[in-house]
Amino acid sequence: MRAVRTVADLRAAVAGWRAAGETIAAVPTMGALHAGHLSLVDAARAACDRVIVTLFVNPRQFDRPEDLANYPRTEDRDRAVLEPRGVDLLFSPTVDQVYPPGFATTVSVAGLTQGMCGDFRPGHFDGMATVVAKLFLMTGADRAFFGEKDWQQLQIVHRLVADLNIPITVTGCPTVREADGLALSSRNERLSPADRAAAPALHRAMAHAADALRQGRAPAAVLDAARAGIVAGGFDRVEYLDLRHPRTLAPLDRVDGPARLLAAAWLGPVRLIDSVAV
Ligand code: PAF
Repeated sequence: MRAVRTVADLRAAVAGWRAAGETIAAVPTMGALHAGHLSLVDAARAACDRVIVTLFVNPRQFDRPEDLANYPRTEDRDRAVLEPRGVDLLFSPTVDQVYPPGFATTVSVAGLTQGMCGDFRPGHFDGMATVVAKLFLMTGADRAFFGEKDWQQLQIVHRLVADLNIPITVTGCPTVREADGLALSSRNERLSPADRAAAPALHRAMAHAADALRQGRAPAAVLDAARAGIVAGGFDRVEYLDLRHPRTLAPLDRVDGPARLLAAAWLGPVRLIDSVAV
């Protein structure tokens, strides 16, 4: 695995592969890699001749300075776990490479970015969409792989690729969970032992709610019971727990087709998100 930090080095590597007619997959990450990320790498490895993992803690998508400051940075460990996975290139640019002096462009996706994380994390999705568009254009990858845990992000990325005619196919991969149901997240590393023990309550409540909705129970009551269950399970507060159309993210007040539950909740200083299909 080669590791490069500049866009020029990235482009030189990609140009060689292109000249040889090889296909290229990208896995965008912010590092602190876990088995969820590695499942994306494995999907990328199976799909394309070459795999690029990008590692960039994107300052523009953090709405709270303390979240950016506390975000785990484990680049040496990340390199070590990627090495045996058949990754060709690790692109871990500096902030100046991504946002050089004078940088003035923002990619802003309307509609899908409103509600849920968009309401509670001002600027987050603009920062995410801007860096994802840049990473797609920098890597020139044919395919990109994202986790389904951040379902709203995934729908926004599909939209921006279509709207900006970026020639890349985006694939969502199933959320990887601990045995107790907790979705893997780089933020889990920041949970105290007591909070780690409480954390599965989020997925447990969402899975029960999804079952109840499939059985035809009224969404309003089901969602209220799930919110109460998350707090009873030890969470400090539920930021949102919404029932949405999987693609348009339109709010749903009944289930008569595909639907998705999306949630964010606080456990001590840590904000966890999850998403399950109904
Ligand atoms: O999901 C993430 O880790 C980030 O939002 C992403 C897609 C790498 C962009 O910074």
